[in-house]
Formats: sequence, structure tokens, C-alpha cells
Amino acid sequence: MMLSLTEIVKYFHRGSVNEVLALNGASLEVKRGDFVSIIGSNGAGKSTLLNCVAGCFAPDSGSIVVKGTDVTSWPEYKRAAYLSRVFQDPLRGTCASGTIEQNLAMASRRGKRNTLAMGVKKREREEFREQLATLKLGLEDRLKDRAGLLSGGQRQALTMLMATMVRPDILLLDEHTAALDPKTSAQILELTDQIIHEQHLTAMMVTHNMQHALELGNRLVMMHQGQIILDVEGDEKKKLQVQDLMERFYAVRGETYSDDRALLV
Ligand SMILES: Nc1ncnc2c1ncn2[C@@H]1O[C@H](COP(=O)(O)OP(=O)(O)OP(=O)(O)O)[C@@H](O)[C@H]1O
Ligand SMILES: [Mg+2]
Repeated sequence: MMLSLTEIVKYFHRGSVNEVLALNGASLEVKRGDFVSIIGSNGAGKSTLLNCVAGCFAPDSGSIVVKGTDVTSWPEYKRAAYLSRVFQDPLRGTCASGTIEQNLAMASRRGKRNTLAMGVKKREREEFREQLATLKLGLEDRLKDRAGLLSGGQRQALTMLMATMVRPDILLLDEHTAALDPKTSAQILELTDQIIHEQHLTAMMVTHNMQHALELGNRLVMMHQGQIILDVEGDEKKKLQVQDLMERFYAVRGETYSDDRALLV
């Protein structure tokens, strides 16, 4: 098993009037090579689940095991060796004041020492050029441009490349195309799918777009109130349609679904 989450409980502001039970005994077994789409309404606990995997904070109870090692109490920096993340905000993944090649050089040296002291070597530059060309955005001719000059979509494409340059065991994507226009979002998703398949990555992707959740990945998980309430994979997932998911959404809230409510989730 690549990742085992067992009975994860996470409170925020525990014991105060603002207490939130963000994860309420969430359990998930992610196999090597699984590509899991995660859906659920606002506040369902999706980001908190990913944050627990990344080690942003320790859960109040439950365990996180990666490739047989219990990492529940490991700090974030220690987990970074096997894990990459891409967030919704394109500004978070890249360093705006650094050039494209400096950003890529940083990413390629993840987990190694002396990262800042080294300049970009000629051989590296050629590699970066080739990798950037695969994005088909013309970035291979802009190695010396600062990342801050790029559009949101270009930055998110660069971030995807950086996140997977040193192959991570687990790739975490938290609504990583939500801030992009529909066309750019589709391009980044295609790139995501391509990278995950080519590198045989294990990935968890949070999205509010049910169509995307159905199209991508071999597995689909739905969260509600800090719990995993639906987990389907393989052929069963392929048969799922948006309407099935909508019905589930409303069923867990004790409501019934009708077509005119489709946009309210
Ligand atoms: N750092 C935090 N401090 C306090 N409360 C938090 C924190 N992070 C999350 N929460 C709360 O935990 C609950 C779950 O939040 P989470 O961000 O995991 O939801 P989500 O499913 O990612 O929602 P969204 O779709 O809106 O991104 C929410 O009630 C949220 O307000
Ligand atoms: Mg979230």
C-alpha cells in the first residue's frame, strides 16, 4: 500500500466556541499508482485531509502510513522527500522573482544540499528546455524570464513540471485548476493526466468539477462532514455520471436532487 490513512480525526480550535471537527474518522487506503479524485462540498475536509498527508499538522488521532512507515508525527519538511503538492493559487507554486530556469533548478535539486549556491549548468538548461517544450506553451524560449511574468495557466503548468521533476511517491493536487479559465484548466488537466500516467505516480486530486472528477483518475472519493462517504474505482467509477454524484450530494444532506439544483453544489 502506498498510503494508509486510518481513522483520522482533526479538530481546529478544540475546546473553544470556534471548535470545528474537520476530519471525523476518515480512513482511506491508496494503492501504488492510484489516481484518486476527491470531491465534496465546501468545508467537507478535503484540504484538511491533504494537509494531514503533507504533515502541515498532526491529526488529533489516527495514523498515516506511507510505504509501510508510520509518518503520523513526522514534520512537513521530512515528508517533502516523498511528496509534492500543487495548490489552487498559481502564485504559490513558483518563486515570482526567480527566472523560469532558476525555479526549475530549485525543483530539480529537491532533497539535495547546496541548492541556492549552485548556478544553472549548461546541461541542466538543455534538459529544462526539453521539458518545457513538452508543455507546448513556448516557455522553452523564455528560460531567463522571471516566473512572475507568466500567466496563471503558464505558472500552473510550470508548477506541475516542478512538482514532478524529482519523482514524488505521492502527488497532492488541491483544486489546482480552479483559478484558471475553462480552456486553460482543461489544458492543465490534460498535462496532469499525462504526467501522472507517464511517471506512474500515485495522486490525490481535489476538485469541485464533477466532470473532471469523473474523467480523470481510476478512483473517486466523496467527502462529507469530515468522512469519506463514497469510494469507487475501476469499472464502477467509469459507469458513474454527474447525476449519480449529484444525487449522492443531496442524499447525504437529507435532500432530494432535481435538475434545476445542479448548479447549487
Ligand atoms: N487552519 C484552519 N483553522 C481553522 N479551521 C480550519 C482550518 N483549516 C480548515 N478549517 C475548517 O475545517 C473544515 C474543513 O475545511 P477544509 O478546508 O478541509 O474543507 P474543504 O473540503 O477543503 O472545503 P473547500 O471546498 O471550501 O476547499 C472547515 O470547517 C474549515 O473552516
Ligand atoms: Mg479545500
